[in-house]
Amino acid sequence: MSNETQVKSQQGQAARPEWTSHMGFILATLGSAVGLGNIWRFPYIMGKYGGAAFLLVYMVLMCTACAIPLICELFIGKKFKLATVLAYQSIKPQFKYIGWMQVYTVIIISGFYFVVGGWIIHYILVYLTNTIPHGINYSAYFGNFAAETTRPLVYAFLFLIASAIFPYRGVNKGIENASKIMMPLFLIMLVFLVIVAQTLPGAREGLEFVFKPDFSKFNAEMFLVAFGQALFSLSVGIGALITYGSYLGKDTNLVESSYTLIFGETLIAVSAGLMIFPAVFSYGLNPGEGPGLVFVTLPQVFEQLPVAGNIFAIIFFILLFFAALTSAISILEAAIASFREVYKMSRQKATLIVSAISAVLVVPCSLSFGLMKDFKVWGKTVFDLFDFSTSSILMPLSTLLLCLVAGWVLRPSDEIVNGNKILYFLFNVLAKYVTPILLLVSLLCGLGIIKL
Ligand code: PHE
Repeated sequence: MSNETQVKSQQGQAARPEWTSHMGFILATLGSAVGLGNIWRFPYIMGKYGGAAFLLVYMVLMCTACAIPLICELFIGKKFKLATVLAYQSIKPQFKYIGWMQVYTVIIISGFYFVVGGWIIHYILVYLTNTIPHGINYSAYFGNFAAETTRPLVYAFLFLIASAIFPYRGVNKGIENASKIMMPLFLIMLVFLVIVAQTLPGAREGLEFVFKPDFSKFNAEMFLVAFGQALFSLSVGIGALITYGSYLGKDTNLVESSYTLIFGETLIAVSAGLMIFPAVFSYGLNPGEGPGLVFVTLPQVFEQLPVAGNIFAIIFFILLFFAALTSAISILEAAIASFREVYKMSRQKATLIVSAISAVLVVPCSLSFGLMKDFKVWGKTVFDLFDFSTSSILMPLSTLLLCLVAGWVLRPSDEIVNGNKILYFLFNVLAKYVTPILLLVSLLCGLGIIKL
């Protein structure tokens, strides 16, 4: 028996943490899925790519092609009770490289995710202390802040520490408890802000922007955008779900849980649109701001609200903080759990090592907006390079490998669909052909090899 296999069996049979309840698992996994992608990106691209027509395509993809990698990742984790590197290695020794690729991917993602998390902390602080200037150009305000050297770095490190505390404390005491508190609070704040947004004068226009079906936007590009967004939003392809799946008990029904997650995730993304766009239209602002929407457009909304603008701003940024934090926890945990198992180290030590690596990567990402803004690799700043290489290349590539491994090597259909013949057929067609082909096309488009 090779050394690594011993590690596998020791780790696999040692007392491994398990979610204390199904609810704990759902909330932690939903916390991973619901992040920045839901709050600013989904509503904006939904409006841009045809409103309800986009939602329809998104939902169909979510329930079919995108459900496959979600179910397969959870399945692999649950079956082998190991985090990504050793779980892949258990399928075939060479597959451990897929696992390592996922670990590298999450570590790169952490570099820029923590920078954005730091920006959120900054906005919470300026609203709490009422030190955000009024009547200014918020685009310049945001640009100047991000270009500073010290403050964005300090806040990014704070966000990193805030995220690392939970995996440091453990799966149940840390991650599960955090999700059980933060996710319900997040949902309460979201519902509250959605209701408030409907009382604003631009509510109808906002709803029209988000929902009006425009089938003329129905084309290959929209299809691929919906596909990419759905995958990113579900957090697949980086091993976070394998890790969370490995803490599942025997009798969890993966198909049911996956569809609960898909439903919750989509409902939250649509609600984010219902919260943001009525406000944006009420004050004649540009809904197409994209990434700057949250940090540039929304401060203008808060300033113009007739009452309690600061309070709504604080609630909004805390909501965003929770969304980003629960995702960041899963990003760290995916790497920590693998380090822990492969190098047989304590959870605490693994957390410190992974956090230290992330902290190093955070520095050039944060400085990309200031000191290092002219330092470009392939025409991109470090921040953009990390973002592009993970979301356009590494995540689709490892999701593609996941589907190929699951569909052609592991063939988990029997265990997953419990003997239902129609589901068996559907699962196989999707896992072996449909999802991999879509992923390959996305990857080639991301690399600029094919153009739509
Ligand atoms: N799903 C998260 C979001 O929507 C992002 C994320 C990707 C989190 C990959 C973890 C892993 O923002």
